[in-house]
Amino acid sequence: MRYFIGNWKMFGVPSSLSILKKINNYVKKEKNNKNYKIIITPPYTLIESFSKFFKKKSIMIGSQNCYHKDPFSSDTGSVSSHMVKKLGAQFVIIGHSDNRKEGDTDTILKQKVEFALKNNLKVIFCIGENKMQKQKKQTFQTLKRQIIKVLDKKFTKNNIIVAYEPIWSIGTGKLPQPNDLLKTVKFIKKTLGQVFKSIKPNAVLYGGSVDGYSVNLYKNLQIIDGFLIGGASKSSKKFIDIIKNYYR
Ligand code: PGA
Repeated sequence: MRYFIGNWKMFGVPSSLSILKKINNYVKKEKNNKNYKIIITPPYTLIESFSKFFKKKSIMIGSQNCYHKDPFSSDTGSVSSHMVKKLGAQFVIIGHSDNRKEGDTDTILKQKVEFALKNNLKVIFCIGENKMQKQKKQTFQTLKRQIIKVLDKKFTKNNIIVAYEPIWSIGTGKLPQPNDLLKTVKFIKKTLGQVFKSIKPNAVLYGGSVDGYSVNLYKNLQIIDGFLIGGASKSSKKFIDIIKNYYR
Protein backbone atom coordinates (compact mmCIF):
# COMPACT_ATOMS: atom_id res chain seq x y z
CA MET A 1 0.00 0.00 0.00
CA ARG A 2 1.19 3.51 -0.85
CA TYR A 3 0.17 6.72 0.89
CA PHE A 4 -0.13 10.21 -0.57
CA ILE A 5 -0.78 12.52 2.35
CA GLY A 6 -1.45 16.23 1.88
CA ASN A 7 -0.70 18.56 4.77
CA TRP A 8 -2.48 21.84 4.16
CA LYS A 9 -1.00 23.61 7.21
CA MET A 10 -2.66 27.04 7.67
CA PHE A 11 -4.47 26.98 4.34
CA GLY A 12 -8.09 26.61 3.38
CA VAL A 13 -11.62 27.93 3.79
CA PRO A 14 -14.89 26.05 3.16
CA SER A 15 -14.79 26.73 -0.61
CA SER A 16 -11.37 25.00 -0.82
CA LEU A 17 -13.36 21.76 -0.90
CA SER A 18 -13.35 22.26 -4.68
CA ILE A 19 -9.63 21.34 -4.74
CA LEU A 20 -10.36 18.00 -3.14
CA LYS A 21 -13.35 17.35 -5.38
CA LYS A 22 -11.05 17.60 -8.41
CA ILE A 23 -8.56 15.20 -6.83
CA ASN A 24 -11.38 12.81 -5.97
CA ASN A 25 -12.72 12.91 -9.55
CA TYR A 26 -9.30 12.03 -10.88
CA VAL A 27 -8.62 9.26 -8.38
CA LYS A 28 -11.90 7.47 -8.81
CA LYS A 29 -11.07 6.84 -12.49
CA GLU A 30 -7.35 6.22 -12.02
CA LYS A 31 -6.32 2.63 -12.77
CA ASN A 32 -3.96 2.12 -9.83
CA ASN A 33 -6.35 3.53 -7.25
CA LYS A 34 -6.59 0.31 -5.26
CA ASN A 35 -2.86 0.51 -4.55
CA TYR A 36 -2.82 3.75 -2.60
CA LYS A 37 -4.62 5.84 -0.02
CA ILE A 38 -5.08 9.59 -0.15
CA ILE A 39 -5.27 11.43 3.13
CA ILE A 40 -5.68 15.19 3.43
CA THR A 41 -5.14 17.08 6.66
CA PRO A 42 -6.93 20.43 6.46
CA PRO A 43 -6.94 22.86 9.40
CA TYR A 44 -9.21 22.00 12.36
CA THR A 45 -11.88 24.35 11.02
CA LEU A 46 -12.52 22.16 7.97
CA ILE A 47 -12.24 18.65 9.38
CA GLU A 48 -15.94 18.17 10.00
CA SER A 49 -17.31 19.43 6.69
CA PHE A 50 -14.61 17.67 4.63
CA SER A 51 -15.03 14.38 6.51
CA LYS A 52 -18.77 14.45 5.90
CA PHE A 53 -18.31 15.15 2.23
CA PHE A 54 -15.70 12.45 1.67
CA LYS A 55 -17.31 9.73 3.72
CA LYS A 56 -17.09 6.57 1.58
CA LYS A 57 -15.12 8.42 -1.12
CA SER A 58 -11.51 8.07 -2.16
CA ILE A 59 -10.08 10.74 0.17
CA MET A 60 -9.65 10.29 3.90
CA ILE A 61 -9.39 13.21 6.28
CA GLY A 62 -6.89 13.68 9.07
CA SER A 63 -5.95 16.32 11.60
CA GLN A 64 -2.64 18.21 11.53
CA ASN A 65 -2.18 17.98 15.26
CA CYS A 66 -3.93 17.32 18.55
CA TYR A 67 -3.41 18.41 22.14
CA HIS A 68 -1.56 16.26 24.67
CA LYS A 69 -4.50 16.13 27.08
CA ASP A 70 -7.72 14.30 26.52
CA PRO A 71 -10.67 14.45 26.14
CA PHE A 72 -11.36 17.96 27.55
CA SER A 73 -9.28 20.39 29.59
CA SER A 74 -9.10 24.08 30.45
CA ASP A 75 -6.45 24.94 27.85
CA THR A 76 -7.64 27.86 25.77
CA GLY A 77 -7.50 27.26 22.03
CA SER A 78 -6.54 23.58 22.24
CA VAL A 79 -8.17 20.63 20.50
CA SER A 80 -7.87 17.04 21.69
CA SER A 81 -7.68 13.80 19.72
CA HIS A 82 -11.11 12.87 21.09
CA MET A 83 -12.52 16.05 19.55
CA VAL A 84 -11.00 15.58 16.09
CA LYS A 85 -12.07 11.95 16.06
CA LYS A 86 -15.65 13.06 16.75
CA LEU A 87 -15.41 15.44 13.78
CA GLY A 88 -14.59 12.53 11.49
CA ALA A 89 -10.79 12.60 11.34
CA GLN A 90 -9.23 9.16 10.85
CA PHE A 91 -5.57 10.19 11.06
CA VAL A 92 -3.51 12.70 12.99
CA ILE A 93 -0.06 14.12 12.28
CA ILE A 94 2.10 14.18 15.39
CA GLY A 95 5.62 15.56 15.69
CA HIS A 96 5.70 17.81 12.65
CA SER A 97 8.78 20.03 12.84
CA ASP A 98 6.54 23.13 12.88
CA ASN A 99 5.11 21.90 16.19
CA ARG A 100 8.40 20.65 17.59
CA LYS A 101 9.74 24.16 16.95
CA GLU A 102 6.87 25.60 18.98
CA GLY A 103 7.65 23.48 22.00
CA ASP A 104 6.46 19.92 21.46
CA THR A 105 8.95 17.85 23.45
CA ASP A 106 9.37 14.08 23.24
CA THR A 107 7.31 13.73 26.44
CA ILE A 108 4.46 15.79 25.00
CA LEU A 109 4.63 13.89 21.71
CA LYS A 110 4.43 10.57 23.50
CA GLN A 111 1.27 11.71 25.29
CA LYS A 112 -0.20 12.85 22.01
CA VAL A 113 0.48 9.49 20.36
CA GLU A 114 -0.99 7.68 23.34
CA PHE A 115 -4.24 9.66 23.27
CA ALA A 116 -4.52 9.51 19.50
CA LEU A 117 -4.27 5.71 19.49
CA LYS A 118 -6.69 5.48 22.38
CA ASN A 119 -9.19 7.41 20.28
CA ASN A 120 -8.68 5.06 17.33
CA LEU A 121 -6.87 7.59 15.20
CA LYS A 122 -4.01 6.42 13.04
CA VAL A 123 -0.85 8.39 13.74
CA ILE A 124 1.42 9.95 11.14
CA PHE A 125 4.54 10.46 13.23
CA CYS A 126 7.07 12.92 11.77
CA ILE A 127 10.80 12.77 12.39
CA GLY A 128 13.74 14.49 10.73
CA GLU A 129 17.09 16.11 11.27
CA ASN A 130 17.86 19.81 10.86
CA LYS A 131 20.54 21.29 8.64
CA MET A 132 23.14 21.46 11.38
CA GLN A 133 22.59 17.87 12.47
CA LYS A 134 22.97 16.81 8.85
CA GLN A 135 26.21 18.77 8.46
CA LYS A 136 27.59 17.22 11.64
CA LYS A 137 26.60 13.76 10.35
CA GLN A 138 24.19 13.28 13.23
CA THR A 139 21.21 12.26 11.11
CA PHE A 140 20.95 8.66 12.27
CA GLN A 141 21.45 9.41 15.95
CA THR A 142 18.85 12.19 15.77
CA LEU A 143 16.28 9.95 14.11
CA LYS A 144 16.94 7.12 16.52
CA ARG A 145 16.45 9.41 19.50
CA GLN A 146 13.23 10.85 18.06
CA ILE A 147 11.88 7.33 17.56
CA ILE A 148 12.85 5.68 20.82
CA LYS A 149 11.85 8.60 23.03
CA VAL A 150 8.31 8.63 21.69
CA LEU A 151 7.33 5.29 20.22
CA ASP A 152 6.84 2.40 22.56
CA LYS A 153 6.28 -1.30 21.98
CA LYS A 154 3.04 -1.09 23.95
CA PHE A 155 1.56 1.07 21.16
CA THR A 156 -0.53 -0.48 18.39
CA LYS A 157 2.21 -0.70 15.81
CA ASN A 158 -0.09 -1.06 12.82
CA ASN A 159 -1.70 2.28 13.55
CA ILE A 160 1.54 4.22 13.25
CA ILE A 161 2.94 5.51 9.98
CA VAL A 162 6.29 7.28 10.15
CA ALA A 163 7.10 10.25 7.91
CA TYR A 164 10.76 11.08 7.46
CA GLU A 165 10.93 14.81 6.84
CA PRO A 166 14.41 16.34 6.89
CA ILE A 167 13.80 19.87 8.15
CA TRP A 168 16.27 21.36 5.65
CA SER A 169 14.10 20.02 2.84
CA ILE A 170 10.70 21.27 3.99
CA GLY A 171 9.53 24.09 1.74
CA THR A 172 13.04 24.72 0.38
CA GLY A 173 13.16 22.68 -2.83
CA LYS A 174 16.27 20.93 -1.47
CA LEU A 175 16.08 17.17 -1.79
CA PRO A 176 18.05 14.24 -0.40
CA GLN A 177 19.98 12.16 -2.93
CA PRO A 178 18.00 8.98 -3.67
CA ASN A 179 20.84 6.82 -2.36
CA ASP A 180 21.05 8.76 0.91
CA LEU A 181 17.29 8.58 1.28
CA LEU A 182 17.38 4.83 0.72
CA LYS A 183 19.96 4.37 3.49
CA THR A 184 18.06 6.63 5.87
CA VAL A 185 14.72 4.92 5.35
CA LYS A 186 16.40 1.52 5.80
CA PHE A 187 17.83 2.77 9.08
CA ILE A 188 14.42 4.07 10.21
CA LYS A 189 12.76 0.74 9.41
CA LYS A 190 15.46 -1.15 11.25
CA THR A 191 15.03 1.07 14.32
CA LEU A 192 11.25 0.70 14.23
CA GLY A 193 11.72 -3.07 14.01
CA GLN A 194 13.82 -2.91 17.18
CA VAL A 195 11.27 -0.79 19.06
CA PHE A 196 8.31 -2.94 18.10
CA LYS A 197 10.24 -6.23 18.14
CA SER A 198 8.85 -6.98 14.72
CA ILE A 199 10.30 -8.00 11.37
CA LYS A 200 7.50 -6.38 9.39
CA PRO A 201 8.28 -2.69 9.70
CA ASN A 202 5.81 0.17 9.82
CA ALA A 203 5.12 2.17 6.69
CA VAL A 204 7.71 4.93 6.26
CA LEU A 205 6.99 7.92 4.04
CA TYR A 206 9.19 10.68 2.74
CA GLY A 207 8.28 14.37 3.08
CA GLY A 208 10.04 17.59 2.08
CA SER A 209 9.55 19.49 -1.20
CA VAL A 210 7.64 16.63 -2.81
CA ASP A 211 6.10 17.57 -6.15
CA GLY A 212 5.59 16.08 -9.60
CA TYR A 213 9.31 16.39 -10.30
CA SER A 214 10.82 15.08 -7.08
CA VAL A 215 8.51 12.08 -7.00
CA ASN A 216 10.27 10.85 -10.16
CA LEU A 217 13.57 10.73 -8.28
CA TYR A 218 12.20 8.43 -5.62
CA LYS A 219 9.54 6.31 -7.26
CA ASN A 220 11.92 3.41 -7.85
CA LEU A 221 12.78 3.21 -4.16
CA GLN A 222 10.39 0.45 -3.19
CA ILE A 223 11.27 0.90 0.47
CA ILE A 224 9.42 4.23 0.59
CA ASP A 225 5.72 3.64 1.27
CA GLY A 226 4.53 7.04 0.13
CA PHE A 227 4.84 10.78 0.57
CA LEU A 228 3.83 13.57 2.92
CA ILE A 229 3.18 16.60 0.76
CA GLY A 230 2.95 20.19 1.96
CA GLY A 231 2.92 23.02 -0.61
CA ALA A 232 1.99 20.87 -3.61
CA SER A 233 -1.09 19.46 -1.85
CA LYS A 234 -2.86 22.82 -1.99
CA SER A 235 -3.26 22.62 -5.77
CA SER A 236 -5.32 19.83 -7.34
CA LYS A 237 -3.13 19.91 -10.45
CA LYS A 238 0.15 19.59 -8.52
CA PHE A 239 -1.23 16.85 -6.30
CA ILE A 240 -2.60 14.88 -9.27
CA ASP A 241 0.76 15.30 -11.07
CA ILE A 242 2.46 13.54 -8.17
CA ILE A 243 0.21 10.50 -8.53
CA LYS A 244 0.44 10.58 -12.34
CA ASN A 245 4.22 10.69 -12.34
CA TYR A 246 4.55 8.09 -9.60
CA TYR A 247 2.62 5.52 -11.65
CA ARG A 248 3.89 6.53 -15.08
P1 PGA B 1 6.65 20.78 1.70
O1 PGA B 1 6.15 20.49 3.20
O2 PGA B 1 6.14 19.66 0.84
O3 PGA B 1 6.01 22.11 1.35
O4 PGA B 1 8.12 20.83 1.73
C1 PGA B 1 6.16 19.22 3.77
C2 PGA B 1 5.66 19.25 5.19
O5 PGA B 1 5.95 20.21 5.91
O6 PGA B 1 4.97 18.31 5.65
